[in-house]
Amino acid sequence: MKKYNIAVVGASGAVGEEIFRVLEEVNFPINSVLPLASARSAGEEIECQGKAYEIEELTPEVFEGRDIDIAFFSAGGSISAKYAQYAVEAGAVVIDNTSHFRMDAKVPLVVPEVNPEDIQLWKETGIIANPNCSTIQMVHLLKPLHDLYGIKRVDVSTYQAVSGAGKKGMEELVRQMQDFFAFKLNESEVKAFAHRIALNVIPHIDTPQENGYTKEEMKMVKETNKIMHTDFAVSATCVRVPVLRSHSESITITFNDNVDVDVEKARAALAAFENVVVVDNLEKAEYPMPMTATDTDETYVGRIRKDLFAKNMLHLWGVADQVRVGAATNAVRIAQKWIKLEK
Ligand code: A2P
Repeated sequence: MKKYNIAVVGASGAVGEEIFRVLEEVNFPINSVLPLASARSAGEEIECQGKAYEIEELTPEVFEGRDIDIAFFSAGGSISAKYAQYAVEAGAVVIDNTSHFRMDAKVPLVVPEVNPEDIQLWKETGIIANPNCSTIQMVHLLKPLHDLYGIKRVDVSTYQAVSGAGKKGMEELVRQMQDFFAFKLNESEVKAFAHRIALNVIPHIDTPQENGYTKEEMKMVKETNKIMHTDFAVSATCVRVPVLRSHSESITITFNDNVDVDVEKARAALAAFENVVVVDNLEKAEYPMPMTATDTDETYVGRIRKDLFAKNMLHLWGVADQVRVGAATNAVRIAQKWIKLEK
């Protein structure tokens, strides 16, 4: 069995560290690992499949002569914009976790459970884009329902964990909570988010756009239709909440006009979909929460209910660990499909 040389750009970050964990858990056929980060982390060690590797500084030349097969990029859009080409030129397939290439028509944007067939388009640019975390977990739920009934419109509000902003996001929430218990929350530093996140909720993720939406919201609109090869309406409100890890989403789906939703059929379609778990018993207080999803590789769904007024509308609540399902696990699942294509 062929074993692969893997590079991880952003090896010291929240997603990079999770990629090593997932590669190990799925027993990915690894020959060697090249962990890359900024000069700040060079020399630090990471471990993968029982072997220690030293982090090296990311430079244009670092991929030369290293025979890298797969390079995961997870160090921010500007880093991918500048360095992905060097990995491609050195012969690697780049699996990019940032937003930089996602809407490039030549670059496939892939959620392996939804559009695995698009992976084969990687050859055109050498790059496969990993979608936005909130989008990945949402399309896991939309795809089986679209196949069942045909979606006309989706309205979603997200409840996004601070780990979406990387380690600095998590550190900021923890620091502010410590300051709260020390009676000095008002003096606590606000840096990772536009406002204090501890004991607060911020309806603003990523940069404002001219149309009144944020960039995060527009990612959900555009990426959903690119992944699903559809053109239905999507409206998103993206909100940061003081949760360390795992994003939640309240999703309202409007199906085609003639549809009369059968909730049991919808529930069965969701339960049958790969890597989706239904947790839905309100009487017993059973529904997904961030604590349900954290450290797992599934997208959970509950509170599945028909609209009270329109027969073609369904409401549901989805939760997934966005560092794994929304980033590292999705990227590794892409790599697993890619190596099968290569055989
Ligand atoms: P470093 O730790 O050396 O700064 P997170 O999303 O958790 O904030 O992590 C971001 C990741 O991107 C880290 O691994 C970080 O490395 C890496 N990174 C940030 N800036 C650069 C850069 N200029 N060159 C290479 N890696 C970078």
